[in-house]
Amino acid sequence: MRRGLAAGNWKMNGTGGDLGEIALLAAAHPAPASEVLICPPATLIARMADAARGTPIAVGGQDCHPAEKGAHTGDLSAAMLAEAGASHVILGHSERRADHGETDDLVRAKAEAARAAGLTAIVCVGETLAEREAGRTLEIVEGQLAGSVPDGAAGDTLVVAYEPVWAIGTGLTPTTEQIAEVHAALRAALTARFGAEIAGAIRLLYGGSVKAANATEIFAVADVDGALVGGASLKAADFGPIVAALDARLG
Ligand code: 13P
Repeated sequence: MRRGLAAGNWKMNGTGGDLGEIALLAAAHPAPASEVLICPPATLIARMADAARGTPIAVGGQDCHPAEKGAHTGDLSAAMLAEAGASHVILGHSERRADHGETDDLVRAKAEAARAAGLTAIVCVGETLAEREAGRTLEIVEGQLAGSVPDGAAGDTLVVAYEPVWAIGTGLTPTTEQIAEVHAALRAALTARFGAEIAGAIRLLYGGSVKAANATEIFAVADVDGALVGGASLKAADFGPIVAALDARLG
């Protein structure tokens, strides 16, 4: 049985005053069956890691550079994130693919760098509304998966997040049948590439307008092992019930 993963992506939100949410979340969920992860802006990783010490909450980054070091102004290496206290890093989020032109090849190189630094990569895939309406959803996500996931992936170094671009921050979510269809296709593609045992250990998260009100329904979908949550991860009062819903489903 795959352990649940409730991951929060704070995106470009949060300053020092928001770190109190970690203690609130830990107090509400001192021993969650699921893994709980918050990915704050890079400026908060070290301080959040301090705040999370002694709690079950892990801390992650939202991006890293593929190189170990060098002349890349403004970028951060995977090793820097790890040293700051991160255990995971989100890679290939649709906002980075759109805002920064990130390609599958670049995401794959970043995932390799993350693994070399001992970080678990959360590789994101997802179709736009136009792609869904054109009937291209599976083709798009399978292509992103094939291009963005490095060879030699395993359950302890890779998590895949399915985030339909049209569901992010919109309050819209796919039907449970649509989520099930994509997650089954992702699992099948991982199985074809890595074999059933490795593919069976890789967690598949759903992301896009997850909140307490829809979490239980989403976590009941086959092959959904957790969620990547944006807006509803910023406050412990919103994220805690999502952790509880995942614990109730699979732990
Ligand atoms: P929302 O939960 O705000 O829709 O964001 C989802 C997301 O992009 C998480 O990475």
